[in-house]
Amino acid sequence: MLPLIDWRPRAELQRLRLEWLEQAGVEVGVLRLDQIDQQISGNKWFKLTEHLAAAHTAGAQGLISLGGAHSNHLHALAAAGERFGFATVGLLRGHAQQTPTTYDLERFGMQLHWLGFAGYRARHAPGFWEPWQAQYPALHQVPEGGGGLPGALGCMTLVTQVREQLSALGWDDYDAWWLAAGTGTTLAGLVLGEAGQRKVFGALAVPDDHGVAPQVEMILRQAGAAERNLELIDASRGGFAKVDEALLRFIQDSEAASGLPLEPLYTGKALMALKEAVEQGRIGCGQRIVFVHTGGLQGRRGLAQAL
Ligand SMILES: Cc1ncc(COP(=O)(O)O)c(C=O)c1O
Repeated sequence: MLPLIDWRPRAELQRLRLEWLEQAGVEVGVLRLDQIDQQISGNKWFKLTEHLAAAHTAGAQGLISLGGAHSNHLHALAAAGERFGFATVGLLRGHAQQTPTTYDLERFGMQLHWLGFAGYRARHAPGFWEPWQAQYPALHQVPEGGGGLPGALGCMTLVTQVREQLSALGWDDYDAWWLAAGTGTTLAGLVLGEAGQRKVFGALAVPDDHGVAPQVEMILRQAGAAERNLELIDASRGGFAKVDEALLRFIQDSEAASGLPLEPLYTGKALMALKEAVEQGRIGCGQRIVFVHTGGLQGRRGLAQAL
C-alpha cells in the first residue's frame, strides 16, 4: 500500500533585484519552489500532496496520470514514486520518443504508455479511464498536471510559507501574488489561501481558449470560496510553448542580472508579463509582490535540444 508521506518542504522567499523593478520602486520576493528538491521540483509536489493522501486513504499502491514528453508533472510524480516507494504509470501524449524527461521517467521506474495524439485528445471523453482502471486496478488516477480541487488544496500552504518569511525581506506585509498559470490549479490554491485578502495575478502560459478561467471557477466553487480576488493576464506570447527571440533575450538578461534561473514556458513568460505590467504602471511604486517560481527547470534540457 502507498505509504502516508509526511514530507513538507519549505520554499525560501528571496528578494529579486532587477533594474526595472528598482527604477519603478516595486519590490519583489520570489518564492523558490524550484529549490525545494533536486528532483521533485516546483509547484508539482504541492499539487500532488492531497492526491497522494487520497491514494493512501483509498489503499492504492501507486498513481497513474497523464502528460507530454516534457511534462514537469510526470517528472515530479515519477521522482516521488521512486523516492517514497510507490508505483507510477504515465500516459503520454504523442508517439514514443526519447527526451531528457522521458529518460528520467523510465530511470525513476515509471511505466510509460504512449497514447498517440488522437488517443491523448480523448482523455476527457467518458470511458477514457475504463481500460486503464482494468489494467491497473490498484492505482489512483490523478488528472493531467495534478489539477482539480485536491491539487489546489495542496497549494494553500504556500500562503502560510510566505507569511512566515516576510521579515526575512524586511516586509511587514505584501500586496499581491504573481505566478504562471497553466491549468490555474496553483493560482486557485493561493486564492483559497488568501480568502480575498490579497490579489492573485495569473500570467497565462496557455491561450485564452484553454479554459483556465472556468477551471479556476470550478475549483473555487467546489471549495465553497466566497471571494475571488484574482486576475488572469495573457502571457502566452501566441500559444503554449511558443518561444520568441525577445523572450529568450529577456530570460538571459534576467538570469545574468539577478541569478534567478528561468525557463521559457512558464516562469520566463510570467516574469516578462510582470515587467510589462510594471512598465504600464499597473503595478505601481511601493507595491510588494510575491512572485512564485513554479519550477519547470528540468524541461529546459528538452527545449534546448528542440531549439
Ligand atoms: C513550471 C510550471 N509552472 C507553472 C505551471 C502551471 O501550474 P498550474 O497548472 O497549477 O496553473 C506548470 C504546470 O502546468 C508548470 O510546469
